[in-house]
Amino acid sequence: MTVHTDLQGYYAQRAASYEEVYAKPERQADLARLHQRVRELFAGQRVLEIACGTGYWTADLAATAAQVLATDINPAVLDVARTRKLPAGKVTFALADAFDLQPGVDVNACFAGFWWSHVGREVQDGFLDRLQARLGKNAQVVMIDNVYVEGSSTPIARTDAHGNTYQIRRLPDDTRHEVLKNFPTDSTLRKRLGGHLKDIRIERLDHYWLLSARFK
Ligand SMILES: C[S@@+](CC[C@H](N)C(=O)[O-])C[C@H]1O[C@@H](n2cnc3c(N)ncnc32)[C@H](O)[C@@H]1O
Repeated sequence: MTVHTDLQGYYAQRAASYEEVYAKPERQADLARLHQRVRELFAGQRVLEIACGTGYWTADLAATAAQVLATDINPAVLDVARTRKLPAGKVTFALADAFDLQPGVDVNACFAGFWWSHVGREVQDGFLDRLQARLGKNAQVVMIDNVYVEGSSTPIARTDAHGNTYQIRRLPDDTRHEVLKNFPTDSTLRKRLGGHLKDIRIERLDHYWLLSARFK
């Protein structure tokens, strides 16, 4: 059977069913906490959202931020995001590659939901270099992502030479996709991000972690 390995293509194909992942009953208490934290952390800020997907977290950002530029590489997920009811005049959706961020709208904060886990260890520094250049000194960064939970998470199928881990995921159309998905410990996060970020704070819930920090 063919196993697809293109991350962008995988999420394009998953656009319509993506938010089913937020309906898992065992994750609801943690999600309620994350919604609250995202709203608190971005109050009054001008936010660049990376890999916004269907706009699930964009709605929380828009509730309290001053402005949101929500970006993703996939037109298919942005089409879903644009159907959301959001506060008028606050949110702009735009097509952008997280690895090739261009200068543009003035922002002072960045949010990335479930993105860091897809950034290969060998390209993490380069990604942070470019994000730092786009955002500038002292800009706030918040990431949320998954904790690996046996029985709830998709099992890890293999580990590559860089230490990246991969899952085999099946979509509703029965296609199979190998997806790079890392589950870093707190100490790995501090080690990998500490060269670029200061004031790193990590909140670890049962199913998710939330990291907040500032660019040096
Ligand atoms: C796990 S989803 C997260 C979506 C959303 N942030 C959320 O938390 O619901 C990952 C997203 O990354 C996007 N993506 C994949 N490669 C990308 C890239 N190079 N630049 C920007 N977005 C990318 C996919 O289209 C997908 O929407």
